[in-house]
Amino acid sequence: MFKKLNILDESDKHLRMKSKDVTFPLSKEDKQTIQQIIKHLTYSQIEEYAEKYDLRPGMGLAFPQLGENKRIIVIVHEVDDEVFDNYVMINPVIISHSEEMIAAETGEGCLSVNREVEGHVARYARVTVEGYDEKGNKIRVRAREDLALAFQHEIDHLDGILFYDRINKDHPFYSDDEIRLI
Ligand code: NI
Repeated sequence: MFKKLNILDESDKHLRMKSKDVTFPLSKEDKQTIQQIIKHLTYSQIEEYAEKYDLRPGMGLAFPQLGENKRIIVIVHEVDDEVFDNYVMINPVIISHSEEMIAAETGEGCLSVNREVEGHVARYARVTVEGYDEKGNKIRVRAREDLALAFQHEIDHLDGILFYDRINKDHPFYSDDEIRLI
């Protein structure tokens, strides 16, 4: 059975807190929550299920958005039509990044932000992220383009940062010769 997640709104204090590192082994509850998030994000990106369960499409979620200030992020990345790569990363750290910056042309969205926020969010075009999988094994992911944006967006959640904090108020929109828009 599918259980829709109760995702907190940006007004909740958990969204502004710095989350704590997670120790291993993971609790049974945390493992279950991770599986629920994967299912929720996957369904949210499949039109039929998104409609059936009234889900707003999203490719990533961080534990603080569920009221748990633990450093765990989940990304469900559609790589082909309804084909998804799942990333679960615990205690993630960006260990290196490109010089090049990019931004999502239509701006970013967040499952905790239930309103339109206009403006470009400048982020690294490529990042290398290190962290741990659910079993506590060290893992490393090299991400580029939209996947790189997702990692940076989700890791920000662990530090209480929301995407619109990074929109330059004096210059909210970039042209393609300032920052590559994807
Ligand atoms: Ni978000």
